[in-house]
Amino acid sequence: MNRKKPAPLSVWRPLNLDHFLLGAPHYPEHVDEGCWRRDAERMAAAGVNTVRMGEFAWHIFEPREGRFEFGLFDRAIEILSQAGIDTIMCTPTATPPRWLTVNYPEVLRVDINGRASSHGSRQHADTTSPVFRAHSRRITRAMAEHYRDNPRVIGWQTDNELNTTVSETFAPSTRLEFQKYLQNAYGTIEALNFAWGGHFWATAYDDFSQIDLPRPLMPSYPSPGHVQDYHRFLAAATAAFQHDQVEILRAANPDWFIFHNLGQLADIDFRGQFGQDLDFIGFDIYPMLYDEMRRTGGHAATQALHLDICRAYSGNFIVPEQSSGFGSQPGFSTMTPEPGEMRRMAMTSVARGADGVMFFRWRPAHFGAEIYWMGVIDHDDVPRRRYDEASRFFHEIAAIKDKVLGTVVRMDLGIAGADFDNQEAHKTYPIGLPSPLEDATLLHRHCYHNGIACGFIHPEDDLSRLKALYIPHWVMWKDQWNDAVETFVRNGGTLILSALSGTRDENNHIIREQAPGNVLAALSGVKVVEFGRVVAEGGSGLFPLFRPAAMGAYAPPPLPASSVERKYFFTLGNEEFQASHLYELLETAPDVEVLGAWSNRFAAGSPAITARKVGQGQVVYVGTYLTPQLAEKLVDVVLAKAGIAPLLPDLPAGVEVSIREADDRRLMFVLNTTETPVMVPNVPAGVDLLTGKPVAGALQLEAYGCAVIALNL
Ligand code: GAL
Repeated sequence: MNRKKPAPLSVWRPLNLDHFLLGAPHYPEHVDEGCWRRDAERMAAAGVNTVRMGEFAWHIFEPREGRFEFGLFDRAIEILSQAGIDTIMCTPTATPPRWLTVNYPEVLRVDINGRASSHGSRQHADTTSPVFRAHSRRITRAMAEHYRDNPRVIGWQTDNELNTTVSETFAPSTRLEFQKYLQNAYGTIEALNFAWGGHFWATAYDDFSQIDLPRPLMPSYPSPGHVQDYHRFLAAATAAFQHDQVEILRAANPDWFIFHNLGQLADIDFRGQFGQDLDFIGFDIYPMLYDEMRRTGGHAATQALHLDICRAYSGNFIVPEQSSGFGSQPGFSTMTPEPGEMRRMAMTSVARGADGVMFFRWRPAHFGAEIYWMGVIDHDDVPRRRYDEASRFFHEIAAIKDKVLGTVVRMDLGIAGADFDNQEAHKTYPIGLPSPLEDATLLHRHCYHNGIACGFIHPEDDLSRLKALYIPHWVMWKDQWNDAVETFVRNGGTLILSALSGTRDENNHIIREQAPGNVLAALSGVKVVEFGRVVAEGGSGLFPLFRPAAMGAYAPPPLPASSVERKYFFTLGNEEFQASHLYELLETAPDVEVLGAWSNRFAAGSPAITARKVGQGQVVYVGTYLTPQLAEKLVDVVLAKAGIAPLLPDLPAGVEVSIREADDRRLMFVLNTTETPVMVPNVPAGVDLLTGKPVAGALQLEAYGCAVIALNL
């Protein structure tokens, strides 16, 4: 495969590959070699063109230190290649073998209480450890040299879901690396003391060597600056760990594509070096698992949300692990995709930017900590409905791939996302408020259910294709974004700022100007006079999506409902709404229109939601947090005026719609996420590429049915 250099990171970036990767992660080391040929033949018959292998097989590649054995995987690659199937190889660093952890116990990750990980599961090694990094380079080099001339190894995945099991570590070597990172970032200890606020609680240092890793609540709260820098450090260390591998792989064979399969995105700054080093992002999709973990509103909406979040980092992506069946580890199990649903979920991935999909996994394991994580075929080696569905999906996508590749997902409404500093700034001082993402989820969910083209985008990306941009409580607004958002507005865009925007600087210090800071105040015509806490009706003071896990040790116990005594209301349009989480009282410049005002208690009459015309567009300021009702009303009142309308009017419940487009094509994906057939009205004229039939007006979809309509232009 001849690799094309990827374009810079952008939500509007298609993949740099000329073929659609279709396949499965495959573990030949888990089955008898006698099964391999039949596996390869069945894969080929199903339409598999690529498998991914090796991510947990370091002990096979290097059974003793310095002794490398590639025979097993060489034979597996060869048999697959005879069936026309290529291999993506993985660096196996998620599971260093036992000889390594015995001989170099200092590579083990250490938890907040100082306990080293024990050997026996995975992700037990500390990616910040220089000793582990040296071993990672060694195994990567050995594998790269071995496979550099094998034409069937077409690309690489680095490690496996870095930081997903745990991202933090408190090893003695981590402390030294953290000190080096800080010395490099600040130069002098005085600069660090200023940034972290050393005069507060006597947290000043005389020297970088005195600095500890921040341990929340041992006994009290460390400085937000200290915590923010620890997470910046973890992200930089994760990127450096990966960079070692990327450098070696690129030097060995510049035609290989390289990606990473992201899981939970903890302490990964994808728009930084981590993402810039890669050709594209891989995003593992387990919608039922994610939905049960976070209760974000049904697994279909959750899948769409996750895909839209991840697209913001780097554009189109592949799904190296797309859920296929029942999933479990010893402590949990997930809901099971029903007949037709595995294909529908895979279509959703394509609809929202996947240019490659691999079903996890080809076969289920008979041993180990995932014996009930089902694959495409069953434990008894019989291909049943999941095989048939995978096969149908692979053949369908192969038939339309030339139309799909090169298109990007349309977005009318962008939600600011993919910014490491803002996500972390919230976590350093959450005070029970929703995170930017939790708040944005309400708007995304409303748009998803109503067929509005909405996704996430970073302010440094190309904003010109959007009609509106919502900034969800980004406290660390950066000066370098001002020109881009102002140009966006002057050219006709609608910018929506929200409570607390721009109120901290890069050190996590509160700004010394009146909020939202001079530039955003000038743009919006709004200044914040006062803010205070609000609790939602019947609420406990904690946002429903608020999960202790997201806050680590800062999670306070839930407040009893009886603590809710004060309610604040505001108007928008001709309706009154109960506020949640925070109120801000606003003073407005003369050219500002008040769209909504506080309507009770001492706040009555003070502006709550405002709009100011700037050039051809407008800047809206929302002095509170979203609720589902406010999200809906904002769409009706503010976004409708910005020209945002559903892609399909009167979208039936449970049907999702999105568009992938290029200059010469527009593909509308209409997917039934429910178990009952549905009639979708108002479908524009075109041809359903999956059936080859013309469509216009009403479209009948079976249970979990899918249509990909090439719209007439
Ligand atoms: C992913 C991981 C896989 C497998 C899968 C199912 O997060 O990358 O190795 O564990 O989940 O649990």
